[in-house]
Amino acid sequence: MVKKNACVFISGKGTNLRNLIKRSREYNFPINIKLVVSNDKNSLGTIFAKKNSIPYIIVNTNSRIFETKLINVLRDYNISLICLAGYMKIISKKFLLGYGKKIINIHPSLLPKFKGLNTYSKVLKFKEKKTGCTVHYVNEKLDSGQIILKKKFFIKESYNENILKSKTQKLEYIAYPEAIIKMYRNS
Ligand code: GRF
Repeated sequence: MVKKNACVFISGKGTNLRNLIKRSREYNFPINIKLVVSNDKNSLGTIFAKKNSIPYIIVNTNSRIFETKLINVLRDYNISLICLAGYMKIISKKFLLGYGKKIINIHPSLLPKFKGLNTYSKVLKFKEKKTGCTVHYVNEKLDSGQIILKKKFFIKESYNENILKSKTQKLEYIAYPEAIIKMYRNS
């Protein structure tokens, strides 16, 4: 199998990044993580990439030309898939068009429910019976691209935000790799 070169965009802890890196070391996993892009040089995810000698770049999202520069770097690495994993910046239409290849994201709710931030508190506030996570393609609208897969669990009355987060993230570590395998199943 010829693996595709992939890049993971992060802003925070990077637990999904670690999991994807681990999975990508498997012989049959369809991607190799060649690059990490972060907008926070002090984040745990960035520190992890640094310590493990994974090429990473820090982007200055305030710079007007950062997207053009970033697209050039992605071309240099021959990246054909971007996985957003807790990247807290909006992907602009200009970047989507300029990059022109697949971009996917993982979101901690059963989309289309609860797009955007503060997912866990919204799930509790609306007394949902179930929640989970969704892997989807990224388009110009927030958390709205075509869904690749969802995974769910049922919510008990005793669950608080911390429990929801922990259960959702455990499911994410299964869902994100599974979605990537599904994307490349017939290629
Ligand atoms: C994940 O829960 C993901 O759903 C959301 O951001 C979180 C990132 O967590 N988009 P981590 O940085 O991978 O630990």
